[in-house]
Amino acid sequence: MSIKVVVLAAGKGTRMHSIKPKVLHEIGGTTLLQHVLNTANQLDQVTSLVIYGHGGEQVIASTSHQGKWIEQREQRGTGHAVQQALPYINQDDAVLVLYGDVPLIQVETLNRVVSHALDNHVGLLIYSMDDPTGYGRVICDDDGNVQKIVEQKDASDEELAVKEINSGILSVPGDKLHQWLGELQPDNSQGEYYLTDIFHMAVRDGVPINTESVNDEAEITGVNDKVQLAQLERAYQRRNVEQLMRQGVTFFDPHRFDLRGCIDFVGQDVSIDINVILEGRVSIGHHVRIGANCMIRDTKIGDHVEILANCVIEDAELGEHCTIGPFARVRPGTVLNDHVKIGNFVETKNVVINSASKVNHLSYIGDAAIGANVNIGAGTITCNYDGANKHKTIIKDGAFIGSDTQLVAPVVIGENATIAAGSTITKDAPDSQLTLSRVHQFSKSNWKRPVKTKK
Ligand code: UD1
Ligand code: CA
Repeated sequence: MSIKVVVLAAGKGTRMHSIKPKVLHEIGGTTLLQHVLNTANQLDQVTSLVIYGHGGEQVIASTSHQGKWIEQREQRGTGHAVQQALPYINQDDAVLVLYGDVPLIQVETLNRVVSHALDNHVGLLIYSMDDPTGYGRVICDDDGNVQKIVEQKDASDEELAVKEINSGILSVPGDKLHQWLGELQPDNSQGEYYLTDIFHMAVRDGVPINTESVNDEAEITGVNDKVQLAQLERAYQRRNVEQLMRQGVTFFDPHRFDLRGCIDFVGQDVSIDINVILEGRVSIGHHVRIGANCMIRDTKIGDHVEILANCVIEDAELGEHCTIGPFARVRPGTVLNDHVKIGNFVETKNVVINSASKVNHLSYIGDAAIGANVNIGAGTITCNYDGANKHKTIIKDGAFIGSDTQLVAPVVIGENATIAAGSTITKDAPDSQLTLSRVHQFSKSNWKRPVKTKK
């Protein structure tokens, strides 16, 4: 027996007021649909079938999906949407229906709902709401057994007073689904094929309906407009930050942290100051401190690293005991060995810097290989680009680069070489010598400062 997840994602999302298809809006940097698929894929023996319609090509291009894409050309209701998937559903499958715009559903909940279909029953995820307006109401008999689901627009006053709503997430045995969907009629106020009509058919055929619920309303909340999108973003961030705090991370303010991706590893005694954004895949070692207002993407941070305030770090590897910032920009391809220091207003790109080297102030170091124990003075620039091609700068162990130096690549600075401040280096500098390229200083004793001529 295998699980087929049918994800309904054909809706237009008019209320988003966006050219983008609704399911491509993002929560935590991941599209709504991708969240649903990522969660569904955690089930055992699962294949996902996505029903798409509006903005189809864009949806397909922006989603990583192993299963089938099935087009629903006209949106004629949730029952009609699931009918499109029937050719891919076997009699002995357990079918789980999800919505592409309900992104925060948890796998533990899905397991509970689908377990009923695996037992040849129907499973339904319900929720009790203070204000159930707009949702389908779950109508039960006196013993609490589900009898049917009635849509808001078709409900009597008595039914409208019911607070239990249909989340839309349900599970059905494949053979029953084939049978019941064949019987659907659009005989309701909206003239649609309602998936929810299968519930009274289940009652008629004596198939038990089991309900499940959730504690956190965010799990079943759909996104229809930008207000709900923002609310779910906050719910998602709260969920992440709580998990990280339980893993031992200290947040100066958990409300002012955003994760737009995933944290592969986080060590002990990590502290994160306010307004930090982590994107892509980030790994954080033990005893790491991240200062305020840092944006860090796709980066591996070693143990005992300290990132001071206002740094932007992307696609980098930071060795142990490094110090970055404040105000550093660490760009893709930066690899730092241990005990390296990158100071304020320093930009690095595509560079390997060996242990204990320092670039403390106001420098651009790109397309370079820097040895160990190198000291790069303030205002040093690797001139890596000649307007057409990029060239490499190599600085060997123990070199000292004086302030305000331009290293015109390709160029090699030898081991323990010293470059005098203010030099423009266009040729390789030998090991252990002082190299300078600047006009010798002189003073004119008979020089007079010009004075303004009188008119
Ligand atoms: C549906 C349920 C309602 C439930 C509510 C929960 C039905 C008849 N009603 O109502 O009981 O309380 O969801 O949010 O099932 N979709 C398609 N193709 C279609 C129609 C819809 O893919 O032809 C998709 C939409 O993109 C959306 C989902 O199905 O993701 C639900 O559609 P929507 O129109 O929002 O259903 P509701 O009328 O809100
Ligand atoms: Ca809806």
